[in-house]
Amino acid sequence: MRMSLAPRRAVAALAAVLLAGGMAACGNSDTGTDEGGSGDGKIVMGFSQVGAESGWRTANTNSIKEAAAEAGIELKFDDAQQKQENQIKAIRNYIQQKVDVIAFSPVVESGWDTVLKEAKDAGIPVILTDRAVDSADKSLYKTFLGSDFVKEGRLSGEWLVEQMKSATGDVNIVELQGTTGSAPANDRKKGFGEAIAADPKLKVIASQSGDFTRAGGKQVMEQFLKAHPKIDVLFAHNDDMGLGALEAITAAGKEPGKDIIIITIDAVKDGMQALADGKFNFIAECSPLLGPQLMELAKKVHAGEEVPPRIETEETTFTQEQAKEALPNRKY
Ligand code: AHR
Repeated sequence: MRMSLAPRRAVAALAAVLLAGGMAACGNSDTGTDEGGSGDGKIVMGFSQVGAESGWRTANTNSIKEAAAEAGIELKFDDAQQKQENQIKAIRNYIQQKVDVIAFSPVVESGWDTVLKEAKDAGIPVILTDRAVDSADKSLYKTFLGSDFVKEGRLSGEWLVEQMKSATGDVNIVELQGTTGSAPANDRKKGFGEAIAADPKLKVIASQSGDFTRAGGKQVMEQFLKAHPKIDVLFAHNDDMGLGALEAITAAGKEPGKDIIIITIDAVKDGMQALADGKFNFIAECSPLLGPQLMELAKKVHAGEEVPPRIETEETTFTQEQAKEALPNRKY
């Protein structure tokens, strides 16, 4: 039987539509977008943020929100208020909602295997940003994007070793650690400790968590000052704790940056101001501007492309003079 030209074209067109539909369904089922997703073809990302504990975190949240909007990615955002159970709840919600990609900055390093396995079983790729997890099974997440925290601690320690080269007698150091069990607290402590081991007169006489907050830094520094009459150096795991400690040091009648040398990490605007003003002495940078790279990675993993297992941000360090120069252009 002969078919006229018009119906033949219609059949071909229908076949093409069915084929394309079938291919799209195959692609989506790999990435979990067949039932979930935005419904308008946009990639949907569920992001669980640590909290709003510091200036760094605020800059990081802004970077992620702005980059998602720019990349045309629909962002579902949750603030975990520094609690792991809130992050686990948020991730489970994202799995239920069948988002296309889950990204999160884990408040602590341990205890993620179960929920990460749930995401993997649901076919939803996970990207770690800023902080790492200690899971032995690296297949539970696609990649890590963030800083080398050990290096930040090491650079801080190396600067101190150089400064104290000709000092005589013990140099008493107090350390304000970040959130207990978090990757930056563990790694910065390690890097700093390894670096100062080069000079036996550098001694950490007290080390306690200030939870990465200004209030925590102030409160713990007050205790340090009461318990230790001779403190030469403060190493704070972030600017905010250092800024809180400044208040305690001034209230104790000491001059920050002179009576007590202050080293911090991050280089957010307020920290850089304190450094330029001579109240801090050295900052190792930790960049919060992870948003654009995160969105690029999300597009790649959603498309099933291979991505490197670890991507580190480029960072520098600042002395007082360098802070004065950099401050006018500091965006966060
Ligand atoms: O994980 C990055 C750290 O977390 C930043 O140094 C700190 O300011 C933040 O709270």
